[in-house]
Amino acid sequence: MNARVGFIGGGNMAEAFIDAFINGEFLLPNQVFVSDINRKRLKYLEEKYGIKTFSNNIQVSVNSDIIFLAVKPQIMTSILREIAETISPTQIIVSMAAGYPIKKIEELIGNDKKIVRIMPNILIKVRKGITALCHNFRLLDEDLKLVESLLSSCSEVVSVDEKLFDGVTALSGSGPAFIFLMIEALSDGGVKVGLPREVALKLAIETIIGSAIMVKLGEHPEVLKDKVTSPAGTTIAGLSALEENRTRYAFMKAIEEAYKRSIEITKLIKEM
Ligand SMILES: NC(=O)c1ccc[n+]([C@@H]2O[C@H](COP(=O)([O-])OP(=O)(O)OC[C@H]3O[C@@H](n4cnc5c(N)ncnc54)[C@H](OP(=O)(O)O)[C@@H]3O)[C@@H](O)[C@H]2O)c1
Repeated sequence: MNARVGFIGGGNMAEAFIDAFINGEFLLPNQVFVSDINRKRLKYLEEKYGIKTFSNNIQVSVNSDIIFLAVKPQIMTSILREIAETISPTQIIVSMAAGYPIKKIEELIGNDKKIVRIMPNILIKVRKGITALCHNFRLLDEDLKLVESLLSSCSEVVSVDEKLFDGVTALSGSGPAFIFLMIEALSDGGVKVGLPREVALKLAIETIIGSAIMVKLGEHPEVLKDKVTSPAGTTIAGLSALEENRTRYAFMKAIEEAYKRSIEITKLIKEM
C-alpha cells in the first residue's frame, strides 16, 4: 500500500495500529506520521518505529491520505475544529473515538468529507482484534477497500450499522478487560487449590485460547460444554458453582452496563 497514514494522538491505540502496520510490513515507517501533545511520547514513537512525528496536528492532517483520530472522545471536538480547514474531500478521516458520531464529525469538518468510524479493540496489538466499521456516504468503494485492507492487516473487520456501535463498544471494545479479569480469576482459583502461580496462569491462558478456537471452528458453545461435562464429574460440579453465583448473568450484566455507559457518553458528546 502506498498511502500516507497519519495519527492524531499517539497513545495506546495509535501505537497498537502503528506497531501492526509497520512490524506487519504493511506500511513503511516513512509512510506513517503521528502528532501528540506529549513530546516524550513522540520521541519514543520516533525511536521505536522510525516514523516522523509532529507536535502540531496540522502537520499530520496536511501530510496524510488517511488520518486516524486517536485521541480521547472529550477532545475530539477541539481537534476537529483545529484541523477542519486543512481537510480535503479526497482524504479519509478514520475516527476511533468511543461514542463520537459521524454526524458530529460532519458538522465540524463538513459533510463533503470522507469519514469512517471504527471501534477497534486493544487486541490489535497482537493482530487478533476485531474492528467494527461504518462510514458516511462520501466514501467510494475504493476508499472503503483501502481502509478495510489497512485494518485487516491487524484485525478482523466487520461492517456494522452505526446505531449498533454502543453494543459493539460494550462487547468487543470493553470485552478484553472482562476476559483479562476471567483469566486472573481462573488462575487465582488454580492457586487456591495449590498450583504454582505461573503454572495456574499458563493453564488459564491456554484454556481460554483453545476454547475460543474450538468455538470459532463452528460448534455452538453449549454443545461443546455438554461434550466435556460427564455425569457426576468435576466439570458439572464447577458449572453448578458458576450457576449458583450467577456468572452467566454477571457477564450479560457487564455488557449491558457497558452498553448503557456508552449511550450516556454518546449523549454527553452530542450535547458538547
Ligand atoms: N483503549 C482502548 O481499548 C480503546 C478501544 C477502542 C477505542 N478506543 C478509542 O481510541 C481513542 C484513543 O484511546 P487511547 O486508549 O489510545 O487513548 P490515549 O492512550 O490517552 O491516547 C491519546 C493520546 O492523545 C494525546 N493527546 C491529548 N490531547 C491532544 C491534542 N490536543 N493533540 C494531539 N494529541 C493529544 C494524549 O496525550 P496525553 O496522554 O498527554 O493527554 C495521548 O497520548 C479514544 O477515543 C478511545 O475512545 C480505545
